[in-house]
Formats: sequence, C-alpha cells, structure tokens
Amino acid sequence: MKALVLAGGKGTRLRPLTYTMPKQLVPVANKPILHFVMAQVADAGLSDVGVIVAPETGDAIRASLGDGSRWGLRITYIVQEQPAGLAHAVKTAAPFLGTDPFLMFLGDNLVQGGVGELVEEFAGAGEDAALLLKEVVDPRAFGVAVLDGGGRVTRLVEKPRDPPSNLALVGVYVFSPRVHEAISRIAPSWRGELEITDAIQELIALGGKVRARILEGWWLDTGKKDDLLEANRVVLDHYACRYIAGEVGGESQVVGRVEVGEGACIRRSVVRGPAVIGRGAYLEDCFVGPFTAVGDGSKLRGVSIEHSVVLDSCELCDVGPIEDSLIGRSVRVVRANSRHRALRLFLGDEAEVAV
Ligand code: TTP
Repeated sequence: MKALVLAGGKGTRLRPLTYTMPKQLVPVANKPILHFVMAQVADAGLSDVGVIVAPETGDAIRASLGDGSRWGLRITYIVQEQPAGLAHAVKTAAPFLGTDPFLMFLGDNLVQGGVGELVEEFAGAGEDAALLLKEVVDPRAFGVAVLDGGGRVTRLVEKPRDPPSNLALVGVYVFSPRVHEAISRIAPSWRGELEITDAIQELIALGGKVRARILEGWWLDTGKKDDLLEANRVVLDHYACRYIAGEVGGESQVVGRVEVGEGACIRRSVVRGPAVIGRGAYLEDCFVGPFTAVGDGSKLRGVSIEHSVVLDSCELCDVGPIEDSLIGRSVRVVRANSRHRALRLFLGDEAEVAV
C-alpha cells in the first residue's frame, strides 16, 4: 500500500501566516504538523509516500521533509497546479498511485493513536474505501456520513445545512484503485472543486464497499487559528516531556512538563508546563503559562503569556497578558505605554505592533 499526503491547498483561513509559509508547516509544540503526519504514516508501516504540493509552497515543503529518510520513508513530490479539490489531488497523483491501494492523509490533520489500525483492517477486508469518522457537536462545517447498522457507509453529504448524522469525515481515508474510476465520473461542485465526498458517493453508486471506523480519540484539524491553538494544547498535553537542555537561572522556576531547547536561557521567569521553549530562545522577567510554545530564537522580556504559539525569531517586550494568540515569524511587539490590557493577537510574519 502507498500513502498520499495532501500538502497543497491555499490555506486562506490561516492568513496572514500562509502568505509566507504553507499551513502544513505551521508548528504545534514547535514541530510542523506535517512532521507528525509523516511519523504516523511511517508508524502505519507504509514507506512509499506521494506528497501533494502547491507550486508556491512546494519548495518550503521539500526543504522541510527532504527525501523522507528521517522517518524511513521514500517521498515522491507531486505538484498540483491548482488547489482544485481533494479528489483532484488524487487524480493528479494517479500516475504515482498506479493500481495500488493507498492511504490518503490530509497534511494539516492529526488523529490520536495514528492510522495503523485503519490500514491494517483494510488490508484483508476486500473493501473499496475505509473512512475514519468522528462524532462532532456541530457537523455542518464537515463532510458527514450516514451508516447502516453494520458500519457500512450508505451516504455522504458535504457541509450539510441539515446534517443527517453527527459523524464527520476525518481527513484520513484508505482507498482501493477503484476510486480512480469514481473520480473520473464526477464533476466539480458549486465551489469549483472535485470533492472527495462526491467521489466516495460515486464509488458507492458503482457498487463499491465503503466501511467506516469511528475514532474515539482526538482529531485535530489545524486549518484555522483557534483549531491550531487547540492542536497545540492537545499535542503539548499529550507529548510534552520534561527536558531541559538550555540554561535556567537560579531565580527562575520551571514547573512540570517543560522542554527547554539547547542554547535557550531563562532568567527571573516562571514557566509552567506543558510548554516548550525553543532553541536559543531568551526569557527574562516572564510568566509563560501552560499550553504555550515559544519558537527558536524568540526573545521575551516582561511578558505574561499562555495558551499561545509564538513562532521563531520574535521579540515581545513588556506586553500582556497575552492569551489565545498565534504570532508569526520575526514579529515584534513592544509596549508603547503602560496601560494594562489583555491582548488577543493573530499576527502575520514580520508584523510589528506597538501598543
Ligand atoms: P483544506 O483545508 O480543505 O483547503 P485549503 O488548504 O485550500 O484551506 P482554506 O480552505 O483555508 O483555503 O485542505 C485540506 C488539506 O488538503 C490541506 O492540507 C491542503 C490539502 N489540499 C490539497 O493538497 N489540494 C487541494 O486541492 C485542496 C483543496 C487541499
């Protein structure tokens, strides 16, 4: 079985960050989400991976993943000229996929426990598709599936106004090569995309067997700011360990599961885990609260911050309290007066704010 990881798309909902970086490389817990995806693909026992990239962001993704050998993977990059839909991405990858079954994984999604069981179950089952579903409170923003009593999928609806179930399609699928025939028979939707939900519906119409597995653990979709912060929270909660490689000054307190990268320096500050402080970062007179990731080389002075993601090479000085914020690379935020007000920030790369 092959794997197809989708790392193209426009990422409009994560602008302005995505003006200068692909959304799949925005870090959670200081690691690009796409790296977690590659690790889960490798853990599922797959090694031959096609990675869909957009022309504008392909170079950044290539530079970040390389040939995949760090995960024991062999990566083939496939350029999708236009972000014309998930099924269009599969169509673009058809020469790479050939007649093999394949795991399709959205490069900005992550699921608890990985995808190994889904892949394993599919291998011996003689089915045409296996889908991962998650019960959600409000399914209207997702592809939604209807099941029969035996776990077979009978119908799929994309972003329904009146959802027929609360089972949303998680961005992980396994397909037999029959999906290519289904894709060749569908037309673009009202939003101009070849939808994977339409392709699966067509597969069912062709008599294909489509089975669902319901995910009990978490599912993270990092396509929007608040979702990304939630992903950062969940990943830190799940994976953060106590690991102090940098220097923690005597007047500082580093409490709980905190990672302090090499060359980082913490002076007169309190850091409460789970949190991660990047390599070469500098904290002075700060409070860094739980669920915060500070990127490599960022400098924070006199800052109180929690539940936030600060990317690399930022400078934050005498501001805060900051919470629920996502701050792009090389952003500079400095205090212009002494008024004390909470800030909620969503800043693009190289933005500069004086408050
Ligand atoms: P989406 O989040 O649905 O689309 P998008 O990246 O264009 O984002 P936005 O709506 O904010 O503009 O895509 C899910 C994943 O699939 C994501 O990793 C990008 C990838 N993708 C492709 O590789 N090709 C495509 O044609 C599309 C639509 C998405």
